[in-house]
Amino acid sequence: MFKINDNFRNLTESYLFSQVGRLIAEYKQAHPDADIIRMGIGDVTLPLCDAAVQALIQASREQAKPETFVGYGPEQGHSFLIDCIIEHDYLSRGIAIERDEVFVSDGAKSDIGNIGDLLSVDNIVAITDPVYPVYLDTNIMAGRPIILLPCVAENDFAPSLPSESETPDVIYLCYPNNPTGVSLTRSQLTEWVEYARKNGLLILFDSAYEAYISHPDVPHSIYEIEGARECAIEFRSFSKTAGFTGLRCGYTVVPKELVSTDGVMLNKLWRRRQCTKFNGASYVVQRAAAALYTPEGRRQVRESIEYYKTNAATLLKGVREAGLIAYGGVDSPYVWIKAPDGMTSWDFFNTLLDRCHIAGTPGVGFGEAGEGYLRLTAFNTIENTIEASRRLKLLNIK
Ligand code: MLT
Repeated sequence: MFKINDNFRNLTESYLFSQVGRLIAEYKQAHPDADIIRMGIGDVTLPLCDAAVQALIQASREQAKPETFVGYGPEQGHSFLIDCIIEHDYLSRGIAIERDEVFVSDGAKSDIGNIGDLLSVDNIVAITDPVYPVYLDTNIMAGRPIILLPCVAENDFAPSLPSESETPDVIYLCYPNNPTGVSLTRSQLTEWVEYARKNGLLILFDSAYEAYISHPDVPHSIYEIEGARECAIEFRSFSKTAGFTGLRCGYTVVPKELVSTDGVMLNKLWRRRQCTKFNGASYVVQRAAAALYTPEGRRQVRESIEYYKTNAATLLKGVREAGLIAYGGVDSPYVWIKAPDGMTSWDFFNTLLDRCHIAGTPGVGFGEAGEGYLRLTAFNTIENTIEASRRLKLLNIK
């Protein structure tokens, strides 16, 4: 007789993006002629860049020859990719990271979900609200106590440090933020690093959207902040940077200075965990990821980021011209929109879908503090982004 992990009973019925996807599919079935512009889940629309495709082809051909065939690789990733990551993502910003501090994976989502394997279920976890649902759901699954830090218009969507009566052990920070699209300045992030060091807090820093940063005062990596190596793990992804949402590749940095209160090096623990539960990202995919760091690859990646950044600016402008209040969209591909006329997030989602044939993600799906908001993404085509801006005006908001 087996029993389930009872914590799963505390989850919402469906994962947010599955629920939204199902509702859009149902709407489409009922209205087959509706030309729906999908700005819900943050999936990219541009195909893979040529540098990545050529690397995939070449790496696949290598697999057909005994002398170049590659079987199991190192669980933490091939050094040809790790070296590129260290040089271009860190050294270029003056950050020294060692080879065995980088762990390549099949994407940030799994790493963010799996990192909890290292942490006691007694740890009190602080989570910003609204939030990328993976942080919340994985901690509900583990049964950890959770503190929510509301990020609302009144605090410019930046979490305030917890009160002394509720000091957490772990905090998830995602900047540029998903879903609000706002970013933290260097001094705001420094405050968190100092707070973490003073209180023995672990920061789980998700910087999946760092490539979208334009402001010089917004850090791309938490390790730009002094002392962060002692308190932070950083998650990165090639999904939103280079269109790897389907191909799957990301990486996590676990510095060797990071030691738990009971004296254990998290780097060693994560290595142990990955070697046991993970056989590494596929060789061909890692070759494609490494190709993104060649001069050609870097130029092509930059072009697609600029494309989505133009979309974000167009969308933000269109949303505001339609009379709506909106945030984000500058250092981020996400635009966070206040629902008009006191509508709930779900009312606004349904109104947009029905009247404008635009699919977004209801803000309340990211947490209670997201109620009354809706998120649109800039990952569609420029043509659809312009068309969505035009349709929003049909809402006739006064
Ligand atoms: C989002 O839409 O928030 C993301 O695309 C989901 C993800 O990265 O898993």
